[in-house]
Amino acid sequence: MNVLILGIDGYIGWPLAMFLTERGYRVVGIDNYDRRRIARETDSEALVETPLLQERTDKYLGFTGFEIKTYQEDCKNVSALKKILETEAIDTIIHLAEQPSAPYSMKDIESGSYTIANNVGSTFSVIQAVIQHNPKCHIIKLGTMGEYGTPNIDIEEGWIDVNHNGRSDRFLFPRQASSLYHTTKIMDTDLLWFYCRSAGLRVTDLMQGPVYGLEVYGAPNDHAFLPNFHYDDIFGTVLNRFVCQALTGIPLTVYGNGSQTRGYINLNDALRCIELSILNAPGEGEMVIRNQFTQLFSVNKLAEMVLSAASKIGIDATISQLPNPRFEKEDHYYHAKNDSFNDLGLQPTMLDQEFLTSFMNTVSTFSSRIDPKKVMPRIKW
Ligand SMILES: NC(=O)c1ccc[n+]([C@@H]2O[C@H](COP(=O)([O-])OP(=O)(O)OC[C@H]3O[C@@H](n4cnc5c(N)ncnc54)[C@H](O)[C@@H]3O)[C@@H](O)[C@H]2O)c1
Repeated sequence: MNVLILGIDGYIGWPLAMFLTERGYRVVGIDNYDRRRIARETDSEALVETPLLQERTDKYLGFTGFEIKTYQEDCKNVSALKKILETEAIDTIIHLAEQPSAPYSMKDIESGSYTIANNVGSTFSVIQAVIQHNPKCHIIKLGTMGEYGTPNIDIEEGWIDVNHNGRSDRFLFPRQASSLYHTTKIMDTDLLWFYCRSAGLRVTDLMQGPVYGLEVYGAPNDHAFLPNFHYDDIFGTVLNRFVCQALTGIPLTVYGNGSQTRGYINLNDALRCIELSILNAPGEGEMVIRNQFTQLFSVNKLAEMVLSAASKIGIDATISQLPNPRFEKEDHYYHAKNDSFNDLGLQPTMLDQEFLTSFMNTVSTFSSRIDPKKVMPRIKW
């Protein structure tokens, strides 16, 4: 199977490329390095300096014998995308190529406008290129659990049956995001569903929770193959941030009262979920939506777990409760379903003390690179 990864230079994209090549897929990738550019512009560089794609893929070929072909291209360019789909005879597209930071999307009018144009624009271009190339090509799109927000009812996997005035129908589950970034993901979902209905596309939309982890199981042991891991307030997801804060004696930055609850997933499980999605493609005109998380935690619970793992390795970490810089509910009902991947055979990696201690030990190799100036919230909305 020929798989095209859009956003192959990213935190998930590069580990996914290694994971799929090792499992026998032929992998091609596209990236325009926008995340590296934004990270430089906002002083939010990744923890480990990783090589650009050509150098990284050459090195990977040397270590493993697996070739990963990459293109430096903007996914909003429909004709370039179509050409790559044809040249590489692509069957499955994994679309990760978006601006993924909620804080960045809320920074100012320019960053908000860029986020809308980039995220919705890249999804629209993927759809158009697939329609022209081969409408049967399976599009796997990374969405987010944040599309649902925190409703006062159970969160289903994508769809809800509504009975109204004696009649019933099935609709997309109501969505109410709390940042512009998350709102672009809702727009993506609507676009994809429109083109499933009108052009018969085959789409899997993955509602992913915040991802954590640095180690990619099975990858060659060389820093060049590590993911572009962020710990800053703009790109860093909460657990990755907490681990770096604990390691450098910075109090863990809990926003608000810390009761906010979300579904989290280990990076390696996220890769497995994507492969399970490849293997379970929807039919023509069908959009499958799967909730991609394995465990629910409140921010307070995550902070307590990091404190306890830190003490096991001799670090006396502390918590600092900050006024919440975000527009979000702190005390809320949260019950999200995630049976779909368990039913397909996912064996989740548990976030427990054993995992956390090992995670902290791995990250501690790079502690000297952690810059305390990059962790306090710089953007408020
Ligand atoms: N990391 C998480 O915790 C998380 C959680 C939920 C959803 N997601 C979603 O998963 C996807 C991947 O996330 P990530 O953490 O790997 O993000 P990332 O920023 O590390 O990777 C995205 C990559 O896409 C590239 N890109 C962006 N726009 C592009 C364009 N127009 N053309 C070509 N390349 C472009 C960037 O340069 C970057 O390398 C994103 O869509 C994100 O919204 C991530």
